[in-house]
Order: sequence, then structure tokens, then C-alpha cells
Amino acid sequence: MIYPINQTKVTKSRLSEVDLTNLAFGKTFTDHMLVADYYDGKWQKCEITSYGPTSTSPSIYALHYGQSIFEGMKAVKDANGNAMLFRPDDNWKRLNYSAHRLAMPDVPREIFMDGLTQLLKLDKDWIPQEEGSALYIRPFMYCADELIGIKPTEVFQFKIIMSPVSKYYSQPVKILVADKFVRACAGGTGDVKAAGNYGATQLPMIEAKKLGYDQVLWMDAREFRYLNEIGSMNVFVQIEDKFLTPELDGNILDGVTRRSVIALLKDEGYTVEERKVDIAELVEAHEKGILNDAFGTGTAASLAPIDSFGYKGKTLQVKPMEQRIISNHIKKRLDAIKCGVEADKFGWVMAVL
Ligand SMILES: Cc1ncc(COP(=O)(O)O)c(C=O)c1O
Repeated sequence: MIYPINQTKVTKSRLSEVDLTNLAFGKTFTDHMLVADYYDGKWQKCEITSYGPTSTSPSIYALHYGQSIFEGMKAVKDANGNAMLFRPDDNWKRLNYSAHRLAMPDVPREIFMDGLTQLLKLDKDWIPQEEGSALYIRPFMYCADELIGIKPTEVFQFKIIMSPVSKYYSQPVKILVADKFVRACAGGTGDVKAAGNYGATQLPMIEAKKLGYDQVLWMDAREFRYLNEIGSMNVFVQIEDKFLTPELDGNILDGVTRRSVIALLKDEGYTVEERKVDIAELVEAHEKGILNDAFGTGTAASLAPIDSFGYKGKTLQVKPMEQRIISNHIKKRLDAIKCGVEADKFGWVMAVL
């Protein structure tokens, strides 16, 4: 083993204090976390230790300049009680894609996967089993240089923490189409999971919530004409019988769920077009009564139906839920593959035994 992981287990688990059937998303954390340190040009020390606050210098670079990236994935249990991960290699590769853009070191696969599997073995009992719930896994890396001043950096920490969660959305979501703020532009960091991408969405999100919306649909930064993505989800619309989703143009995240939903739709023989999607197409489809479906895809929310889009003072209402047979079926297949109920012919799941 090139990167041995030293384990210090907690003496008493906090699990008995937690109600796994009644969870707020992302507020409860399991007993253990992984911490790996990078300095002097290499990964030096990896350890699993108890989850909790760590002392950090007030001058660390990540706090001041946002050199920080993260991933999001989930583990569920199969019928035999094994922890099941969904496409974990895709998250590892995307973490390193983000790392490259933010000039951070690659996290070796061994640290990512061994850390993850060891943590899951220790905290397996924290995986909730209610329908729609899961253990959310948050790998992240940040710059820990104590440094004020914009300069190349050298000290990094990679960590994994885990949080039992229930459903992200319990209702179809109401979406406000952005017409003032932008999330990403060409040459920026829209296609990586940089922490700063999300910090800058707080204000628009709060404003949208005040107007009664759940999330913002980000549009292209030049013309506010082409759909980008929503909060922490990629977006799909169904016009007549065709599914449309914005192409990977460098401004949106290459979502693991997006990729999987495209594969499942194609597997069932449906047409999926990955291309620029003009908001005018949605307006026209709505007028003609052929805006048949719309949904977001993401690890946290799985496949989340969109109730309606608010655009220029109008509401583009999508068809009622009972008519959305295809996306409902795809969501069920996706969830069934994740927990081993449907045979995984795509090779997507990894059991942690
Ligand atoms: C901005 C953004 N878009 C899309 C997604 C969906 O990606 P995934 O399906 O890999 O979770 C996420 C969540 O990770 C996200 O943060």
C-alpha cells in the first residue's frame, strides 16, 4: 500500500442519538471522517479519525480565495445490507478534473477509494433505509496554505465526511429562469465543482425563494437565451416525444446522474438530444401544449420533477405528474439499479463488502 490509512475509531458511536427516519438534509454527520495531507509535493499522511471540528489557521488560502473543490455521491444498502456506491470512479475522476482547473494536486485513486470503503465499513449502520434516503458522501479538497496574497499554493487537505439524508425535494420544484445573475461563463469554472460557484448563487437563490420558487435555472451568460443548469442539478425537458438537455459546453457540470439518465432513456429507445436548448423552444412548446415533461438530475435529488418555469412574468406549466410516465419509470429504474434491485447491466454499482 503506497498510502496507508491509519484508523482511530471512536470509542462510542453517536448513532443512538440520531433518528434515521427523520433527517434534515446535510445536517447530521457520521462518526468518522478521512483526512489526507499534501505538502512538500506529495500526499504524506492519511487517517480516519472521529468526525468533528478541527483547528484551522484564520489565514488559510481556501477561506480567503476560495481554492476549494468538492464532490457529492451517495451510498445505499442492498437487500443483504451491503453498502452500494453508484459510479464512484466517475466522482473520483471529476474531483481530479476540478483539481486540475484550480491548480490543486490529483488525489490518487487509492486514497479516494480506500478511504471511502474503509469509512463505509466503519459507518455502515448510518445508512438510512427509508425510501428516498441514503448516506450522502462529501469528498472535498481545499488549500491549507497559511497565506495572504494571490500566489501559487502548495499545502492541501483532502477529506471525506458522510451525512445520512432523507429526500432532497418532496414536491415537484418551481424554477425561476435567471434574467439578471449568471452562474458561469466561457472560460470560467462552470464545469467543475468549485466551492465558489455555489457561494455566488446564494443571493439569487434567496431572491428566487422570496418570489415562491425553489431554485434558479441558470442561463448562458451572454444572452440569457440558452438553458444551462439548475442549482445542483442538470436539466432535461421533453418536448413532444424528444428529450432535450443542454450540451456539455464547459459551462455546466458533467453530472453523473445526467449521464446515467441519458443512458437509460436511450436504452429504452427514446431520443435524447444534447445540444443548445433555447428558452424560446420551451415557451413555444408550452403555448402548443407539448411541454410534456421537465426534470432536474443530480446525486442529491436523483430525478426531480419540475412543476413549472417562471420566465419573464409568465408561468410555463409542465404537464401534470400523472402524465409523466417515462421520467417516472426512468427514476424508478435508476433507484432500483443503485440498490441492486435491478440487475446492473451497465456496470455502475460497486458493493462495499
Ligand atoms: C451545479 C451542478 N450541476 C449538476 C449536478 C449534478 O451532478 P451529479 O449528477 O453528478 O450529482 C450537481 C451536483 O453535483 C451540481 O452541483
